[in-house]
Amino acid sequence: MSELVVVTVPLPDAVLDWLGDRYALKVWDQATQMSEDLLSEWVRPAQGILCSVGTPVTRKVIDAAPALKVISTISVGLDHIDLASANRHGVPVGFTPDVLVDSTADMSVALMLAVTRRVPEADRFVRHGGWRAGWSTGFFLGSDLSRATVGIVGLGPTGQAVATRLRGFGSRLIGWNRTPRAVEGVELTDLETLFGQADIVTVHTASTPDTYHLVNAARLAAMRDGAILINTARGAIVDESALVRELASGRLRAGMDVFDEEPLAENSPLMQLDNVVLTPHLGSATRATREAMIQRALENLSAGMAGEALPWQVKPE
Ligand code: DGY
Repeated sequence: MSELVVVTVPLPDAVLDWLGDRYALKVWDQATQMSEDLLSEWVRPAQGILCSVGTPVTRKVIDAAPALKVISTISVGLDHIDLASANRHGVPVGFTPDVLVDSTADMSVALMLAVTRRVPEADRFVRHGGWRAGWSTGFFLGSDLSRATVGIVGLGPTGQAVATRLRGFGSRLIGWNRTPRAVEGVELTDLETLFGQADIVTVHTASTPDTYHLVNAARLAAMRDGAILINTARGAIVDESALVRELASGRLRAGMDVFDEEPLAENSPLMQLDNVVLTPHLGSATRATREAMIQRALENLSAGMAGEALPWQVKPE
């Protein structure tokens, strides 16, 4: 009898066909998040879980799956998986590093340009009939990346790819990393200097207990008037309530791709604010990148199901 893989995320038919030729499948094909109870029930007889950021693979889920051989996530981020439980049960976890770095860096720069040049606001203005007067020198003014000091929080692969792009724009770059790391064109600083000096702060650290609310009320308060926060990493790194207060006062601006709660609630105060550009967790959302992520996740899954080392395995520590 075929071994069972539980898939918690909708996937293209060709991928499901590939999986279906090899394993018995139970597929959650809704865009909404699967409940912990239902997932715990589904995984009881399963050998594999193929998941992504939307559905947490919690301790309860892992404890409920005594035959589990592998958890393969279609993501580089791991905050939706209880790694300690996986480790305790000896279940290897596979992820998809490297292949989404460029797409995520592009998205961060896209948000910087959207906010500095007021692109979504200008689009709304034109569509809603606001463009009645002709060209004038003071109309819809923004600011230039070439004149900006950009503070990069986290100089891993994505932070470095953002730096590469911004060197081309001519920005002054300052950066912080937990373990200081030399990156071409980036002046290393401490976090306090970074938040105090940057016109734009862009967040690229992993979400871990150590980085929870790293962008806290005090650091937001230290940012310059009119400065911009960009987050394509994880919502938990930013104290969202403190950010809302700064945005509501009109002092800061932001471009946010990730949030405390996803999908963002319809009644989130962020929805009411014009000085923040909101996108729905799209950092890696290009066709080619998603195909590459799925490919890595399938390779991890099939290695784990065969009892082999995963090509992209999360280190147990
Ligand atoms: C990841 O891979 O962690 C991303 O957030 C999904 O795009």
